Amino acid sequence: MSFIASDIAARIGTKIETDHATLAGGSKAAEIRELLELRGILLFPKISLTDEEQLGFSCTLGALVEQGDKGLYKVTLDSKITPTAEYLRGTVLWHFDGFSDDVPARASILTARKTSDIGGQTEFANTYAAYDDLPEERKQTLSELRVVHTMAATQRDVFQNAPAEMQKIWESYPPKVQPLVWTHRSGRKSLLLGSSADWVEGMDKAEGQVLIAELQTWTTQRKFVYRHEWTVGDMVIWDNTGMLHRVEAYPDTSGRMMHRTTLVGEEPIK
Ligand code: OGA
Ligand code: MN
Repeated sequence: MSFIASDIAARIGTKIETDHATLAGGSKAAEIRELLELRGILLFPKISLTDEEQLGFSCTLGALVEQGDKGLYKVTLDSKITPTAEYLRGTVLWHFDGFSDDVPARASILTARKTSDIGGQTEFANTYAAYDDLPEERKQTLSELRVVHTMAATQRDVFQNAPAEMQKIWESYPPKVQPLVWTHRSGRKSLLLGSSADWVEGMDKAEGQVLIAELQTWTTQRKFVYRHEWTVGDMVIWDNTGMLHRVEAYPDTSGRMMHRTTLVGEEPIK
């Protein structure tokens, strides 16, 4: 059994070198969950799990979201393989997964099956660290604010001039009002932003959007970000409750293929 963890950057990311048997056995599951909570993203370079191994390992960490084929969802722009592929175009914008869920996913596990020659790098931003570094008075003012998250906000910059039909579908998702500052059960706090953040409750719409954009820029500054250049076989786990993520745009014809498993959420946003 081998298990060596080392930090990637000061504020985000830990690399773990281990083997299939260690992951499958679950003996390190508690440690992995703890590292994930502290470090935001975990990278397992070229671990090259099969689908069954990815599913088995994911189950050692928590309950799986029912998606794709028995919990394994294929992240591709090819809608013949993944019928919901069109929504994945929105993943080029900073976001967290499942903004419309009452309890957003705990974490996602992504493995690279085919990379793109152009683009396709995935970036992660630590929203805990971004909150921690704000001046104290700013933390106070922001803690009063609530943000309205909408599906339209996640899509409209990707599908400019979207037909009315499409806009209707976006609007069928009920908006979610969430605190700007998420106080987690652990006591730690993070900024809740991302492409779904549309406007600030009780604030002039344009003014709220300027504030959201400003905080988004703050959160995604280099010191809080890890950018992953994929090699086939790499696996990354991200804490979906404290990281924003996005992918660098890649061509439809690239064949890029990632297999995703997702852990069910464990705490509502408060
Ligand atoms: C996702 C996602 C990023 C990527 O699957 O939720 O944002 O790199 N993927 O494909
Ligand atoms: Mn995503």
